[in-house]
Amino acid sequence: MRLSLVLSIFGMLAVVLSTRFDIIGTIECQAAPPWCYTIKIIDATYNVKATSLSACELANNNKKFHFKLNLDWGGVFDRDFELQLLIQHDCGIEIDDEMQTMRLSFGQVSTTTYFIRKEVKINLSTNTTEILIRSDWN
Ligand SMILES: *[C@@H]1O[C@H](CO)[C@@H](O)[C@H](O)[C@H]1NC(C)=O
Ligand SMILES: *[C@@H]1O[C@H](CO)[C@@H](O)[C@H](O)[C@H]1NC(C)=O
Repeated sequence: MRLSLVLSIFGMLAVVLSTRFDIIGTIECQAAPPWCYTIKIIDATYNVKATSLSACELANNNKKFHFKLNLDWGGVFDRDFELQLLIQHDCGIEIDDEMQTMRLSFGQVSTTTYFIRKEVKINLSTNTTEILIRSDWN
């Protein structure tokens, strides 16, 4: 009895101490390959980079990506996460031009949310970002 009480309190603490993010998506560039991109996940409130991915596609015009991360709350991540995808790319631009930058914001999410899953579509040829699926568990 006492042990199970201790375990369930411990379980509740574990639930609120970090939030799991599962962000999957596709990035597409209709211009002829090669094209290169960097996708960063940042907390916009503090401009803290949580994770990132850089790659070049030599043959494909689209690529799937999948970020899995756990963010602790407290410290720099305060009461809300304000996650954004920051995308830098050279799709359809001249070699001498600077990389283009796009942002996709997920808005504010309470740090007590246990699990956050997003499915996104990024079309660099049309400058569009779209959130196809969002499902959060509190
Ligand atoms: C992305 O934009 C290009 C250019 O308009 C279009 O041909 C392509 O079908 C779009 N891709 C998706 C998945 O909507
Ligand atoms: C995409 O956005 C950038 C920056 O706002 C702009 O310079 C570029 O012309 C846009 N491209 C298209 C295809 O709309």
